[in-house]
Amino acid sequence: MRKKLAAGNWKMNGTTASLAEVDALLAAHPAPKCEILLCPPATLVSAMAARIGEGPIHTGGQDCHAEPSGAHTGDIAAGMLVDAGASHVIVGHSERRQDHHETDADIRAKASAATDAGLVAVICCGESDDQRVAGQTLDVIGTQLAGSIPDTATATNTVVAYEPIWAIGTGKVPTLEQIGEVHDFIRKILIERFGAETGDNISILYGGSVKPGNAAEIFDVANVDGALVGGASLKAADFSGIISALETA
Ligand code: 13P
Repeated sequence: MRKKLAAGNWKMNGTTASLAEVDALLAAHPAPKCEILLCPPATLVSAMAARIGEGPIHTGGQDCHAEPSGAHTGDIAAGMLVDAGASHVIVGHSERRQDHHETDADIRAKASAATDAGLVAVICCGESDDQRVAGQTLDVIGTQLAGSIPDTATATNTVVAYEPIWAIGTGKVPTLEQIGEVHDFIRKILIERFGAETGDNISILYGGSVKPGNAAEIFDVANVDGALVGGASLKAADFSGIISALETA
């Protein structure tokens, strides 16, 4: 059975005071029927993981370096995230592909480093507005996934997140048909490459303007196993609504 995962990406938001949101989430979901993951900025990973303790919320990083250590000022190694209490790391988010010129090969190396260190890699893909308008969506996703997912991916060490760039932080959401088309395509690719046993069990998240009000219908789409949520993960009240929708999906 594929795992259902509600993942929050805080991006470059949050200070120690924001950890109160984690307390509220823990109080609202003492025994969740899906996995919950919060990826705060690196400065908060350790404090968040400590705050959660044995609680049912996982803590993750938003990026890691491909090397285990060395002269890479400002970067963080996968093993350091593990040491800080993380169990997951997002790699290949479109904001990093854009802002830091990360290539599919970079992302594959980061994902390998993450899984080697014992983290679950949440590998992101997604087309731009121009690419969708030009009818290139499935080609772009196919290329990104072929290049970004390591051969060592398994259903336990890898999650794929489909995040159309034009839907991120814009309030624009693809139609349910559009989401379904891409998620079915990703499932097909995963099964072709990794076989039915693995390919059918890797969770595929949708991300891009997921809110409490649209989450339930998105989770009803075949091959949508959860969400990667930006803005609506910053406030426990909003994220809680999304978690509840996934629990009952
Ligand atoms: P929003 O939910 O704010 O659109 O962000 C999605 C995202 O980029 C999560 O990684």
